[in-house]
Amino acid sequence: MTMRPVSFIQLADTQFGMFRNFVGLTKQGIEEYRRRGMTVQPVEPFDGFAPETERFEKALNAANQLRPEFVALCGDMVNDPSSSAQLAELERVSGRLAPDVPLYRVSGNHDASEGDHVTPTEESLARYRELFGDDTYSFSHGGAKFIVINSTVLHSPAHVRAEYDRQVDWLEAELVAARECSVERVIVLSHHPLFLEHPDEPAHYFNVPPDNRRPVIDLLSRYRVDAVFAGHMHQNNYAEHKGMLMIASGSVGYPLGKDPSGYRVVTVSKDAIRHRYYSLETTQTPASIP
Ligand SMILES: [Fe+2]
Repeated sequence: MTMRPVSFIQLADTQFGMFRNFVGLTKQGIEEYRRRGMTVQPVEPFDGFAPETERFEKALNAANQLRPEFVALCGDMVNDPSSSAQLAELERVSGRLAPDVPLYRVSGNHDASEGDHVTPTEESLARYRELFGDDTYSFSHGGAKFIVINSTVLHSPAHVRAEYDRQVDWLEAELVAARECSVERVIVLSHHPLFLEHPDEPAHYFNVPPDNRRPVIDLLSRYRVDAVFAGHMHQNNYAEHKGMLMIASGSVGYPLGKDPSGYRVVTVSKDAIRHRYYSLETTQTPASIP
């Protein structure tokens, strides 16, 4: 299959409703987050979803200006999917994206789990699919194949073991099909990064636990996946394993580290995968996709 360069904008963790948790945060609260590896700041009181709305609108304005082939929203679209107000604001702002730019949605742990924001159940997955559609699917642009996974199921399959097994089988079938069609590039879109530094690292709040991770990494390596783009960390993280990039991007919404809210511009071509993170707080939108 011949390949032409494909540019897309990757967004993650719009997470409507999260900023509110940090209004009036105490020193003790800040310290508790710090112990879990997260750098947080208190937030001034605000109305509605003002900080999330402003940032997501800016990101979509950048997309409307840059005209990528598509936008991928890599999970934690809302903080609490039982909140109709959060869902309504996500939908309202999403509507600002130019109608000829497809928006591909990826499920996050907040979107697809039960109230603990970690563990999916049959019920929480059914709710996700009713609200957002399929949680595992693939699509192609310009000779590159993009595979959307549900990393929350991969992360915490305790109550949905059959869903984990089904997803791993489906992933292998998608990868086999990509190789049979001689696709030039295969990119996975996820919410959780599978690992932060190395595929054999121990479990951490932000990665997928080793026993659940290993079968997935084996497949991605065997079928030579080029890159995984994820979110979840609310900060940037870069790793690589045998030529496969493992990239977590900072959040559109509330940041949990040194990186500001932002978006990533990615160009996939036969020669290279180029990507760069842009701040929504300070940086001007580039005039065109670099
Ligand atoms: Fe998140």
